[in-house]
Amino acid sequence: MKVTVIGSGYVGLVTGACLADVGNDVVCLDIDTRKIELLESGGVPIYEPGLKELIQRNARAGRLRFTADTASAVAHGDLLFIAVGTPPGEDGSADLQHVLSAAGGIGGHLRGDQVIVNKSTVPVGTADLVRNAVKAALDARGAGDLRFCVMSNPEFLKEGAAIEDFMRPDRIVIGGDERWGMDLLRALYAPFERNHPKVIEMDTRSAELTKYAANAMLATRISFMNELALLADRVNADIDHVRRGIGSDPRIGTHFLYAGCGYGGSCFPKDVQALLHTGQQHGEPMRILAAAEAANERQKRVLVEKLAEQCGNLAGLTIAVWGLAFKPDTDDMRAAPSLVVVSELLARSASVVAYDPIAAENAARILPPSERLRFAASADMALEGADALLIVTEWKEFRSTSLEKLVAALRLRVVVDGRNILDPRQARAAGLTYLCIGRP
Ligand code: UDX
Repeated sequence: MKVTVIGSGYVGLVTGACLADVGNDVVCLDIDTRKIELLESGGVPIYEPGLKELIQRNARAGRLRFTADTASAVAHGDLLFIAVGTPPGEDGSADLQHVLSAAGGIGGHLRGDQVIVNKSTVPVGTADLVRNAVKAALDARGAGDLRFCVMSNPEFLKEGAAIEDFMRPDRIVIGGDERWGMDLLRALYAPFERNHPKVIEMDTRSAELTKYAANAMLATRISFMNELALLADRVNADIDHVRRGIGSDPRIGTHFLYAGCGYGGSCFPKDVQALLHTGQQHGEPMRILAAAEAANERQKRVLVEKLAEQCGNLAGLTIAVWGLAFKPDTDDMRAAPSLVVVSELLARSASVVAYDPIAAENAARILPPSERLRFAASADMALEGADALLIVTEWKEFRSTSLEKLVAALRLRVVVDGRNILDPRQARAAGLTYLCIGRP
């Protein structure tokens, strides 16, 4: 099938590359000509395991092309995906300017009998706004009779596992109000269903709300576990035992129950905000979600609080920070808990030596420059001259770290493990003062 993907960001590139890989003829459009030049020359503007190879393979095969030319791109696809950013506006609501400008571009060049599929995360009712914007552009060029429909097809992929998530989805949510659009999109997704039906059909508004509901539920689940972990600290219980004890109930399930130093990323914080805003707007405040968000803000401060409880005044201390990305296997720093951790350490007049295998460059761009903030080239180098260590992201390379090395390197022998990756008994037996989240 002929597919156009508008927006060559994270979701757009993964969608385009995966759809090309199953044999579709895909054109990816972006208004950023530098990004298109980079993609055309075999580069990829973001880090995602396997994505570069997938893009290069399909580009070589001629199934995946990149362009900044809206007219030819819109003419190409029978299916036109909108996968542009919806950053939070000042009030937390999703900013739809990129979505609506993509819709305007589509209307300006639509050839007819095309299905517009919205993959960006957008508030309920956006499909109607897109339809109106396309219609207005068509009317303006005297082409009001051309047939099109607008569908919602939210994306649930996780960073670091995006290709696997796309290729083997748990479910494919398709929201639409016209049968012909549903049929075309179902045909596109047929290769991803194999022997297991994955498509869940619904109306566009329910599909739009489903995306927010999924992320808000997951964020709430994490915040609940984080609060429970703080309570476990107080009552001398072990959140790991509690997690296993409740996770074995299939109604609760084992995934996404890990206490830590707060959730971050490009989706949860933004989508929680946007859903809170939608609730306010419609006179149905989402109280549980508001509490989940507040708990997350608190959780990002817990590591430094624990460190200060242990060490007293942090002024003049040098703190090693392991992990900056909001989770492993990504260089994404958006809303990463490490931003709060590092800023809080600096605010308390400590010096910070941070290490992350791939996100350090992005972190350096976002964190305010300070002569008390340095980036180390390796985990070991971050420990040199440090008084204590904070573990903020659970990169695999930190998991089997030598405890003896930590004891030898850290002047105060203090480790605060924000992701519970070390074994408390072993750490203490080695001679560390080991603090973690919800484990005695
Ligand atoms: C999330 C959703 O999982 C995905 O379906 C949606 O499309 C986009 O948002 P992503 O942001 O890539 O994906 O990351 P995810 O792996 O879900 O983790 C989000 C945050 O939650 C991370 O900061 C992670 O550290 C934290 N987390 C996750 C926990 O603290 N505990 C857990 O048990 C799971």
